[in-house]
Amino acid sequence: MKVLEVENLKAYYEKALILKNIDIDVEKGETVAILGPNGAGKTTFLKSIIGLVKTEGKIKFNGENLQNLKPHKRVLKGIGVCPEGRRLFPDMTVEDNLRLGASTKHCDSELELVYDIFPDLKRRSNHIAKMASGGEQQMTAIGRALMSKPKLLLMDEPSLGLAPKLILRLRDAIKKIQKDTEIQILLVEQNIRLAFKLANRINILVNGEIVEKGTVESFRDLEKNYVQLL
Ligand SMILES: Nc1ncnc2c1ncn2[C@@H]1O[C@H](COP(=O)(O)OP(=O)(O)O)[C@@H](O)[C@H]1O
Ligand SMILES: [Mg+2]
Repeated sequence: MKVLEVENLKAYYEKALILKNIDIDVEKGETVAILGPNGAGKTTFLKSIIGLVKTEGKIKFNGENLQNLKPHKRVLKGIGVCPEGRRLFPDMTVEDNLRLGASTKHCDSELELVYDIFPDLKRRSNHIAKMASGGEQQMTAIGRALMSKPKLLLMDEPSLGLAPKLILRLRDAIKKIQKDTEIQILLVEQNIRLAFKLANRINILVNGEIVEKGTVESFRDLEKNYVQLL
């Protein structure tokens, strides 16, 4: 079953065509990765799904056309976003940042799930977000997206700026989401190794177009080449 179906998607900033005919699906139980260099259009693609840029083409979520829905309505349908650069409220506590992601005030069970996935965050719950480490801030940003109880989680370069050790922690946390929840993940990354560890299928986006796509297995032989390409 397809959770997300994107067909023939074009995206524009003003008159500039940024994405040209993108086709990407996410099926139930899958993690799909989008890899590509800076400026390829990865963030624009995630913004298209959530409705933050002008688009043409089909975007269906659980069989329903999203094109005419405003961004907040798309979030309520079950699309969670962990944006590029985290976008936390720096002077609020970790827990208050998490609570902001929930659609209601009564979100203790969601909070419990987030603390279960990220036990370190529970210990840091009363810390001011800007005082938390880069890794903790990234976990907070993912946790905040989980608070909206998404069926599909969009993640924009979660490993960006993290030290190698913290990337391993991030990897384990995303694996836990895969194992313990029914959430599908659309992962945008420049860290190829991380994407190959987490995804079922890979799409390579270059200059607004998907130039290669396939299962992780079908990419194995090419992995080294792509490490050089990106
Ligand atoms: N707000 C904007 N207005 C105009 N052009 C933009 C805007 N945001 C991004 N772009 C352009 O769109 C292209 C894709 O950007 P982006 O989606 O951010 O790429 P990526 O996330 O892969 O680095 C780039 O050429 C970038 O300069
Ligand atoms: Mg980006």
